[in-house]
This record gives sequence, C-alpha cells and structure tokens, in this order.
Amino acid sequence: MLETIQDNLYDHPKYYDLVFGSDWKAELDFLLAVFEKHGAGNIERLFEPGCGTGRLMFRLAKEGYEVAGNDLSAPAVDYCNDRLERHGFARTAEVGDMTDFRVKKKFDAAFNTINTFRHLSSERLARQHLECMAGALRKGGLYLLGFHLTPTVGEPIDEESWSARRGNLSVLSRLWTEKHDRRRRNERVRMSFDVYTPTQSFRLANCADFRTYTYPQMADLIESVPALRVVETYDFAYQVDQPVKLSPETEDVVYVLQKC
Ligand SMILES: C[S@@+](CC[C@H](N)C(=O)[O-])C[C@H]1O[C@@H](n2cnc3c(N)ncnc32)[C@H](O)[C@@H]1O
Repeated sequence: MLETIQDNLYDHPKYYDLVFGSDWKAELDFLLAVFEKHGAGNIERLFEPGCGTGRLMFRLAKEGYEVAGNDLSAPAVDYCNDRLERHGFARTAEVGDMTDFRVKKKFDAAFNTINTFRHLSSERLARQHLECMAGALRKGGLYLLGFHLTPTVGEPIDEESWSARRGNLSVLSRLWTEKHDRRRRNERVRMSFDVYTPTQSFRLANCADFRTYTYPQMADLIESVPALRVVETYDFAYQVDQPVKLSPETEDVVYVLQKC
C-alpha cells in the first residue's frame, strides 16, 4: 500500500509533465495546421491561459512563435519558465488567473486544451475568461479551446489512466469521476499520481471540480460574449481536414473561436 499525500497535482510539475508531456505531437501539429487554415494574417504571438508546465509552449517557441502564458500554480510556472530558458527563450509564463488578466500587447492566437477551461466552476467565471481572452487577442485572432463535453445521449467516459517513465522515475496517473451532478453542472473528479523511484514510492492524490457543458450550453455561453464567434469545431482526433458537427453524442471538442 502506497503512502498517500493529498496535494494539488498541478503543483508537482515534474510528475505532471512526465505523464501529460509525452503526448504532444498530435496536438502541436493540429495547432500549427489550424493557425495555417484559419489564421487571418500572420500568426506570430501565442498565449496559453492555464499553461501549466508549458509542454506545448516551448515546442511552439522552437517552431519560431513568440509564446507567453499564465497559470495559478507557481511551481508549474517556474517549471515552464526554467524550460523555456534552457531552450534559449524568455521567461514569459506568469502566475495569474485566466479569469482576470490583461496583456500589454495583443496576441495573434491563443490555445487552451485538455479541459483546463472546465476548472472554471461557474458561468460567471467562464464568461469572464472568454472576455479576458477576447481582450488579449487582436481583431481576427484565434482562440482554440478544447475540452470534454457532456453527451446528452449515452454515458461519458468516466475513467482514464496513463503511465510514463523517464530514467528511474515512473508515474502512473489515474483519473476517475466520483460524482456527476448534471443539475448543478458539476463533475467531481479524483486524480492520483503513483510515483516510483529507486528509493521511494508514494501516491499524490486530490480531487477537482469540473464544470460540465453540453454543446447547447456552450453555444449559449459563447453567444453571451459578442467579441468571439465560432469559426469551426474539431474533436480530439485533431484532424484539421475533418471538422466535426456537434451532436448530442459528441464527447470532445476543440472550438476555433475568432475575435470579431
Ligand atoms: C490540465 S492542466 C493543463 C496544463 C497545460 N495547459 C497543458 O496542456 O498541459 C490545467 C492547468 O490549469 C491551471 N488552472 C486552473 N484554474 C486556473 C485559473 N483560474 N487560472 C489559471 N490557471 C488555472 C492549473 O493550475 C493547471 O496547471
């Protein structure tokens, strides 16, 4: 039985990045393809709200983009900046709240994948976030927003696990739904990292509340922010030549929003 430590998993960037950092290629290629297909004019400056360890940011910097981001977790921001610096880029991630920030110079595009948006627990915070994003983008700028929808028919996937290894460190990650309250639009998710090194092994665990969205609920939210409009929708297959039409069965989506 592993010793269990209750803590915010996002404050352990070394383990987070090992698990989530290995799965980046399809996402990166998709972002580049969307910038190419939907970008009105040149896309050079990118922003990632809730950037965490910046697993995509430093790779986009290597592709020649100017990148910046914010995140609530100071350890994750340090990790992100240290890696940017190691690769020869500026320390452009900041501790900040994606529902309450302003930028000095507007960005050409922004991206927010893998459910980060659903951490915003209310309609008010979600709208504030979209308004902040609209404020951070130049006219015609793009915001790629990816997360799991709640299908209105069928049951959503409610358990996932991954493992990853680097040198002597291996991490097994598990994520499962403890409770789904459709009326309150809240999904309580338990997450854990089982960490194994030659000298120690332990479990980090916590739970997080995710706001749920059916596609009509998300349509209403987007409509309430007139500065953004939907230009296309994709799914987690990340195929830029295969946009998807949202339906009651849709489980995951990447909205391509554009600043009007
Ligand atoms: C699932 S992780 C995603 C990290 C990164 N975007 C990635 O793709 O690997 C969610 C991140 O959102 C951050 N976060 C949650 N609420 C936030 C908020 N209100 N403002 C900024 N960051 C937030 C967490 O600290 C965490 O790093």
